Amino acid sequence: MAYVNFKDKHYHHPDEAMIHSTTVDLMYVKRDFPILYKPVHNQPLVYLDNAATTQKPQSVIKALYSYYTSKNANIHRGVHSLSEQSTLAYESAREKVRQFINARDAKEIVFVKGATEAINLVAQTFGKLAVKKGDEIIVSELEHHSNIVPWQILCEQNEAILRVIPMSDSGELQIEQLDAMLNERTKLLAVSHVSNAIGTINPIKRIIQKANQVGVPVLIDGAQATAHLGVDVQALDCDFYVFSGHKMYAPTGIGVLYAKKKILETMPPYQGGGDMITRVSFKSKTVYNQIPHKFEAGTPNIGGAIGLGAAIDYLSKFEMNQISAHENQLLEYATNALQQIPELQIIGTAEHKAGIISFVLDDIHPHDIGTILDQSGIAVRAGHHCAMPLMERLGINATTRVSFGLYNTFTDIDRLLSGLQNVLRIFKPN
Ligand code: ALA
Repeated sequence: MAYVNFKDKHYHHPDEAMIHSTTVDLMYVKRDFPILYKPVHNQPLVYLDNAATTQKPQSVIKALYSYYTSKNANIHRGVHSLSEQSTLAYESAREKVRQFINARDAKEIVFVKGATEAINLVAQTFGKLAVKKGDEIIVSELEHHSNIVPWQILCEQNEAILRVIPMSDSGELQIEQLDAMLNERTKLLAVSHVSNAIGTINPIKRIIQKANQVGVPVLIDGAQATAHLGVDVQALDCDFYVFSGHKMYAPTGIGVLYAKKKILETMPPYQGGGDMITRVSFKSKTVYNQIPHKFEAGTPNIGGAIGLGAAIDYLSKFEMNQISAHENQLLEYATNALQQIPELQIIGTAEHKAGIISFVLDDIHPHDIGTILDQSGIAVRAGHHCAMPLMERLGINATTRVSFGLYNTFTDIDRLLSGLQNVLRIFKPN
């Protein structure tokens, strides 16, 4: 195969080449994920829906089992041994997150349900205070609904204006327009690191620099980035960075809001309840806890945080650039192969893309494509991908989307290709 060119060696199949192309055998990663061996419709599973959620390695499943069988107790409250162990495990997960994204201080890491909750938290605390009537918030045309709707709600509440960075036909943000959009009324810029629908990697470093030059805080939605690209919040110099555990091999229901300490300290609480206070009284003003606990009202998802820590431990067996390189190979191989299908059009052809490919196949509805692929054990996503404004911009209703994780192989893509031939045979028999 001409596509595979690893120095002086010739391989018959790219999967063989991949074994030699990495220092850790990513080929064997699949073995760490028990669900990948579960047949679907009597076929070996090919899981290509990683942008929706990733599968969990055995080590994460074991960490949850071990937590609930040996440590389970409420945190920050009890004086008994289990509570102390549980608190230690929860706070050590926070430290793992700090290291993973290179935050300065573990106090800058707030555990939340996921990226969606993190964005709502910022909108209703920081946003509610900072944004006044007539002020502006900037988002982009390729955002997921979770980085649009919380800002629309805030704009309605505070009579502010939502402005949108336009996107080119290929799915790249026209950031040269940003200079004219940023002004003294701009109170926040919120943009995704990677588009969930079409895979564009946005030039967030440049976007942040532009905003920082005029003193506008920036929130980065990293939901589709943390499992695929190295993230260094200090190097980025963003004010907020949010992500979900379940998209990076951790359990559902746990995610992270990173915020610079000096901003987090000025933000009012999001929810009231236990653990977020130092003192509650009917006689004097209630005193809130220190950050990050001030933003973690109620019993948090302790097991989930520990599971996220275990997922970070798992990811640290690899270099993030090794994972990116592997997924880039899959992206390139799949893109080349899909382009050979005359009836197929790839939606989103940005120069810098993560391992996500959206496409339309003639006039066949993506739900039909997804259903037929499923019959062959191939899991993809079909629909608008919670990015309706992006679909509207491109003049389509829906796409079929494949998205890669570190356990995917070239063989998975070959299975997808024969699945698509099968779809064509059914819908376009002549
Ligand atoms: N945000 C998830 C996706 O893109 C659900 O599929």
